[in-house]
Amino acid sequence: MELQNLLVSKRNSYAIVTVNRPDKLNALNSATIAELEQVMQELNKDKSIRCIILTGAGEKAFVAGADISQVADLNETSGKEFSLRGQNTFRHIELMHKPVIAAINGFALGGGCELAMACHIRIASTKAKFGQPEINLGIIPGYGGTQRFPRLIGLSNALHLLLTGEMIDAARAHQLGLVSEVLEPEKLMERAEALASLLAAKAPLAVRYILQAVYRGAGTDLDKALNIEATCFGKACASEDMHEGTAAFLEKRKPEFKGK
Ligand code: COA
Repeated sequence: MELQNLLVSKRNSYAIVTVNRPDKLNALNSATIAELEQVMQELNKDKSIRCIILTGAGEKAFVAGADISQVADLNETSGKEFSLRGQNTFRHIELMHKPVIAAINGFALGGGCELAMACHIRIASTKAKFGQPEINLGIIPGYGGTQRFPRLIGLSNALHLLLTGEMIDAARAHQLGLVSEVLEPEKLMERAEALASLLAAKAPLAVRYILQAVYRGAGTDLDKALNIEATCFGKACASEDMHEGTAAFLEKRKPEFKGK
């Protein structure tokens, strides 16, 4: 498939995926969702790529939401299908084997905020704005916002933002724990790429098992979740990289992880 709405650029060990509809503030139409699904699945399988940065084209927006011109035509059946399609794509991103960093350069509203929440690390420029304004359109978030928002920022804060549709700035998002770092706009991609290089140098299987333990464990009871952790820990212990990592420490050298 030739990409119409995304730009993908590969560096040594990581990829940058840019949602590229700046004239529509990178709003997610169904074609963009389909491209995201395809590109992220391909990157998940690509052994040369160990981390992905997701960002938005232009100065103004990360992603300003689902494309409202498409939302306007939905009915009960097509609305549910629309929601499930986006949810599936975002869930696939969340369950990827390698970390996805959202570099939030501007508006992250509705589906944009939901997309960022499906990523593993969120860093934002001081220009970023966050919110779930669907209430103002007479709808609700349909790409995971009612579920991931409370998990990330707590019920009180999530309900406040979901019900009022209010936007918050990057400083408030940081205070609420929605993003882990806030940077000057010109430093955002530099930091995202530094983080991507850092993560790409980690043991790929250990990275994968951390993501697996966290996301498979979340939402289940503590005993089951601890069991998931122990299983993942065991799998990590079976890797060549575990022998390399421990040997390198004992030999006082830098480890070279191979993802085996
Ligand atoms: N869907 C479709 N088009 C969108 C969009 C969306 N979610 N968000 C922005 N756009 C389009 C605008 O319609 C406009 O297109 P046009 O130039 O063809 O008229 C263009 O992007 C620029 O947006 P504009 O509203 O003129 O920019 P602004 O700086 O005045 O306002 C926002 C920025 C983000 C506050 C405003 O665009 C907005 O509220 N967007 C919708 C956010 C939303 O409700 N998201 C949830 C959707 S479910």
